[in-house]
Amino acid sequence: MFSTLQPHKKAMATELLSPLLPQRRRGLAVAAAAPLLLLLLVVVVFSRSRLTVSSPERVDLTLVAGAREKGAVCLDGSPPGYHLRRGFGSGAHNWLIYLQGGAWCNTTQSCSERKRSSLGSSKFMRALKFSGILSNDHLENPDFYNWNIVVVRYCDGASFAGDAEGEDLDGTKLFFRGLRIWEAVIDELMGKGMDIAQQALLTGCSAGSLAALLHCDNFRGRFPQEVAVKCLSDAGFFIDVKDLSGERSMRSLINGVVHLQNVREVLPKDCLQNKDPTECFFASELIKSISTPTFILNSDYDSWQIRNVLAPSGSYPQQAWSSCKADIRNCSSTQIDVLHGFKNKLVSEMKVAEDNKNWGLFIDSCFTHCQTPFHITWHSPISPRLGDKTIAETVGDWYFGRRQDVKQIDCEYPCNPTCSSRLPTA
Ligand SMILES: *[C@@H]1O[C@H](CO)[C@@H](O)[C@H](O)[C@H]1NC(C)=O
Ligand SMILES: *[C@@H]1O[C@H](CO)[C@@H](O)[C@H](O)[C@H]1NC(C)=O
Repeated sequence: MFSTLQPHKKAMATELLSPLLPQRRRGLAVAAAAPLLLLLLVVVVFSRSRLTVSSPERVDLTLVAGAREKGAVCLDGSPPGYHLRRGFGSGAHNWLIYLQGGAWCNTTQSCSERKRSSLGSSKFMRALKFSGILSNDHLENPDFYNWNIVVVRYCDGASFAGDAEGEDLDGTKLFFRGLRIWEAVIDELMGKGMDIAQQALLTGCSAGSLAALLHCDNFRGRFPQEVAVKCLSDAGFFIDVKDLSGERSMRSLINGVVHLQNVREVLPKDCLQNKDPTECFFASELIKSISTPTFILNSDYDSWQIRNVLAPSGSYPQQAWSSCKADIRNCSSTQIDVLHGFKNKLVSEMKVAEDNKNWGLFIDSCFTHCQTPFHITWHSPISPRLGDKTIAETVGDWYFGRRQDVKQIDCEYPCNPTCSSRLPTA
């Protein structure tokens, strides 16, 4: 058993799709989870439990061809990569593009650190396990299991949006080429059959979900009008709210990203006329300009935002908030009131989406972040439900028009009995 806990660099051939953990911790988490997963697998095989379907498929990494010539490179200058699982049967001409997340880097220092991980260099990327919305098992992923599915690796640190160069502390270059990465990957996929797609969906989680919003109309524009193209944002609805000490720390983080990496090119022109680029990088502004049908999936008690936007360390007396941030069940009633305030602000910023008949909403009150790439949240017996439907069922109903006006906003925490404490909180 102990051999699985050895340094993972060579031993671990695959990665789980955890959106926000830095590389090292993710590797450790995988290593630590391996014996447990094995045990789970054995249990499942013998009990035929409904909870777990087949184990997730591993999909190899493909590096983008000719990336360097186009200047489409990761922070360290290495070529970007993606994982493509071919569609089959009735899904052979349908394409789902999933943009990986992993927060942002807003300073030379933080981008320099990122360069030494898979979030900044393809040198550290390995095969990936496809689960949840990426799964090829129809029990786990009833509507998209047989589509062509592509996970695009995030290695620019600015939601696939920047176009600039910088200098690292050691004098080498830092490349901020997210926008070129987006273009090079989409161009390459067009040459691999996406040009004759019949249906397409652009999605992603967290910083990758923000990227899906930023590129949604551009993606739509690459297909003829008769092709069905939609976008799905999972945990990308970051809000510009004051933290507990009254600072706008999220805005200052985004401001750093926007200026260091020069993201202006991807921002909606109408927003830039009245507002500064930093404001235009937030979902509440982006959704005003998107004309492609879009689905917003988010928890209104988003665990990442509560930890990093509302109560970032340093913004509060450590003792008082740390156990509440770790587990929402440990929050005091005063703290829950603060969280309700966060929820109300987030929901009020979704008004435009609520009023648009082609859009969809699934806003649950579970303490979690990123709900599409995990079996447990996407479509399992313990998934969060609204109106008795899982996220997979709801997104499918919206995408295929099986139901009208697919918009649900949950009641206040802790009203939803399907919010399990086992959901991933990033
Ligand atoms: C970068 O982000 C951190 C929060 O992660 C913030 O404290 C800092 O002010 C930001 N720096 C710049 C230059 O934007
Ligand atoms: C939550 O509260 C319980 C009971 O007071 C305590 O045992 C547990 O350690 C707390 N969890 C965290 C993450 O602080």
